[in-house]
Amino acid sequence: MKYIVANWKMHLGVRESVALARGVLRSVRGRDEVPDIVLCPAFTSLGEVHKAIARSKVQLGAQSCGPAKSGAYTGEISPSMVRDVGSQFVIIGHSERRAMGESDALIRQKLEAALVQKLTPIVCVGETPEQRESGEAIDVIRDQLRATFEGLKMGRKQKIMIAYEPIWAIGTGVHAEVADVVEMHTIMRDFLANELRVNFDQCFFLYGGSVNADNAYPFLREQSIDGVLVGGASLKLRQFKGIIDAAQEVLTAQSQRV
Ligand code: PGA
Repeated sequence: MKYIVANWKMHLGVRESVALARGVLRSVRGRDEVPDIVLCPAFTSLGEVHKAIARSKVQLGAQSCGPAKSGAYTGEISPSMVRDVGSQFVIIGHSERRAMGESDALIRQKLEAALVQKLTPIVCVGETPEQRESGEAIDVIRDQLRATFEGLKMGRKQKIMIAYEPIWAIGTGVHAEVADVVEMHTIMRDFLANELRVNFDQCFFLYGGSVNADNAYPFLREQSIDGVLVGGASLKLRQFKGIIDAAQEVLTAQSQRV
């Protein structure tokens, strides 16, 4: 299984989003080995993209949600609204939202609220360039994981995704080394299981940061990398299709091995 999550951020109006979603559907039509694709358009396009991908295996995600169920929270969107419009996934704790002031505590609240609605959270963690340079990256990631997951109660069969997205790699054209991602994922898995003692039934580890059609394959080929979270390259159909092709190549090779 390989996940490709498209984070369209604050790009594309409704019509453009639907057109891109249809393009993605055309790209996967007739293929045997298709990765699990999750499209995360802006809130305003969720409903129409949901209709466009109906009856396909392509899934829908929101880019954020508020922590409250309902109430006087002008401008907020609740997890149940995200669910109601057809999303099964929600990105939580993206560094761009942390930079807008979302604290670890708020991210934890959002995560809990999303889980109540049986959404699959895609939790993002990542260090700044300065933290990387001063050798603090591992501690930063552990702190983010602790704040997000310590003592978390989860229902059985709840799926969770954690994306390692170093901030210096997001939107910069400079991606992390595959070996460094594998190492960080190992540290994260170990920390969650042995320090925090959270045992997820199904937990998938993604990488995000300047993934494109040219560099996706070596990430996806790694057994321990369950998928990629793609920003800029997910807005260009040709690029995104190239990433789907890379995943298909990996999945086909895997199925021939068994
Ligand atoms: P990028 O963004 O692929 O444009 O680097 C990734 C992300 O922000 O999730």
